[in-house]
Amino acid sequence: MADSIHKLIASCGFVDLPVDEDLNLIAEINRLKQEKNAVILGHYYLSSDLQDLSDFLGDSLALAQKAAGTKADIILFAGVHFMAETAKILNPGKKVLVPDLKAGCSLADAAPGDQFAEFVRNHPDHKVISYINCSAEVKALSDVIVTSSNARKIVDSMPKEQKLIFAPDKNLGNYLNSVTGRDMVLWDGACMVHEKYSLEKILALKADHPEAKLIAHPECERPILLIADFIGSTTALLEHVGQDPAQAFIVATESGILHQMKRKCPGKLFLPAPSLDSTCGCNDCSFMKLNTIKKIYLALLHEQPELILSEELMERAALPIRRMLALSQ
Ligand code: 13P
Ligand code: SF4
Repeated sequence: MADSIHKLIASCGFVDLPVDEDLNLIAEINRLKQEKNAVILGHYYLSSDLQDLSDFLGDSLALAQKAAGTKADIILFAGVHFMAETAKILNPGKKVLVPDLKAGCSLADAAPGDQFAEFVRNHPDHKVISYINCSAEVKALSDVIVTSSNARKIVDSMPKEQKLIFAPDKNLGNYLNSVTGRDMVLWDGACMVHEKYSLEKILALKADHPEAKLIAHPECERPILLIADFIGSTTALLEHVGQDPAQAFIVATESGILHQMKRKCPGKLFLPAPSLDSTCGCNDCSFMKLNTIKKIYLALLHEQPELILSEELMERAALPIRRMLALSQ
């Protein structure tokens, strides 16, 4: 059985076995969690059913903090690969499961480890700040990791004369340069969701809803950020809609977050910011949406696919992540 599961994972990235249609998957997941002392960590970009199923839901920073402190023996990470890698690096002795190994990230993919190593070698007097949306290899080449929640604070904590590299998101890097007055050297990466928003269509939507405020994630391109009323991480955006008296918001980040916004403020209107191509469903991160209830059930049942990293890589990548956690307290 174990062999056939490994073959299945190798061919499609997840355990794909038939499941009895009469099985109550949510009840089974809860039973397996208890039996195996497992916890499900989920990101705000998941579909709403999986957000409701997660034991802990958060942005990248909160998820890393939760992973660092968990007492569970098994962490099932419902998110994308770099998030599960971070959880594994912080818990090398625990089993970290991912519902689908193909749930990657366009930003992380934009910085292959070998090319990034060369880039770092070409900037010998620079410290390296990397956004958490990167591979373990890139983390291991970094001095400190940041998320969109703490990036500004961590960049500001660096001595002014210190030259800096920021990778892999050029949009977040440009935004940080503009608010901190730094001149960080930027790696040329971007998120396939956040770079697809249409300025023209957003302006048209604002004209139709003059009462709506535009809120944006800093992974968006500069023209969108320039007209945004508020810029922040997913958690910051969620907190903001509760605090701002406005009754309507145009939301320029992955549409999964709308589930929590509607829950927090049932009376307010939340409009997903339109993308360049209205037929592509570009507001959804196709990687995040690879997570499904069936895959979570099968992953918990078979304890596969398990995320495996070399001890040596985990040791090197842990240092900049732990630095970030210390600077975020
Ligand atoms: P945060 O949840 O940290 O804001 O990040 C958004 C994101 O793109 C995760 O991949
Ligand atoms: Fe990566 Fe963008 Fe998806 Fe976030 S939304 S996981 S940055 S591809």
